[in-house]
Amino acid sequence: MDLDAFIVGLPKAELHIHIEGSLEPEMMFALARRNGVALPFASVEALRAAYSFTRLQDFLDLYYQGAEVLRTDEDFRDLALAYAARAAADGVVHAEVFFDPQTHTARGIPFSVVAEGLLAGLAAARERHGLTARLILCFLRHLSEEDAFAALRAAEPWLDRIAGVGLDSSEVGHPPEKFVRVFAAAGERGLRRVAHAGEEGPPDYVRQALDLLHIDRVDHGNRALEDPALVDRLAREAMTLTVCPLSNLRLCVVDAIADHPIGRMLKLGLRATVNSDDPAYFGGYVADNYRAVAPLLSREDLVTLARNSFLGSFLPAAEITRHVAAVEAFTEGERL
Ligand code: HPA
Ligand code: ZN
Repeated sequence: MDLDAFIVGLPKAELHIHIEGSLEPEMMFALARRNGVALPFASVEALRAAYSFTRLQDFLDLYYQGAEVLRTDEDFRDLALAYAARAAADGVVHAEVFFDPQTHTARGIPFSVVAEGLLAGLAAARERHGLTARLILCFLRHLSEEDAFAALRAAEPWLDRIAGVGLDSSEVGHPPEKFVRVFAAAGERGLRRVAHAGEEGPPDYVRQALDLLHIDRVDHGNRALEDPALVDRLAREAMTLTVCPLSNLRLCVVDAIADHPIGRMLKLGLRATVNSDDPAYFGGYVADNYRAVAPLLSREDLVTLARNSFLGSFLPAAEITRHVAAVEAFTEGERL
């Protein structure tokens, strides 16, 4: 089987995808028209040309601006369904999807519009594409913990349909310790916990996320590699890292894809996975991310990444077993 068919055919879960980051320029313009929102770009091409970043904050500024076209439950439904269709075409059979409610409620869009729209889109995706999905509510770390509590309170009626909470946005200067109480409150409500850590922030932010926020997964985690004791701990605890190679390239977390540490992470025994992060902004969905790092890896490594994506998911144990068996069945008869 050729490499591309192998990558697409491997059953995969996606564990690090921001739904607002899947807003393609074409849809951004279509929603701007539908909702009567003025965009500060003349064309799809001009917008795409602006997607040139040297660090996380450059991207975030455009990402929050782009999200302003999202107004109605239909917009959120269309966004979720478009992502799911694209992910399913890449062989994604399960997705755990971040959303940033504070980005929307701060503009006067009710939490109910965001949640109901996204849930309707994901339900339609299951019907049409057979892909299962869960939502993860991310707190914006550049805002206060009080603001995060307000988001958690607003989410209360939907918590049975939300798998967990996360922490995203500007990392440096906003350490995990800022959110200890709200993560504890989320844990008391039976929510799973994840946090972006070690994308631009130091290894100590990864430690804080583990020790103070009691996270189940580390989102990114690249800079943990600077701290051998931390690497040993992450490996020993089989902590899942949701790594995003094209994001790392476009945000200059790595200088070149050939320098990407994904192979090193696997060799160190870390439970790394490959994900798209913000595919509309970083030039690719999940299969593009696998393709980008495939020259650095063996086929066995690609299988490990796919297996890890299910092992690190929040699916029930029986579902994980079934998906891992499907990964093994797919590779049977292939010379790895
Ligand atoms: N890092 C932090 N915040 C984000 C990201 C990211 O990669 N994508 C969307 N919000
Ligand atoms: Zn992210």
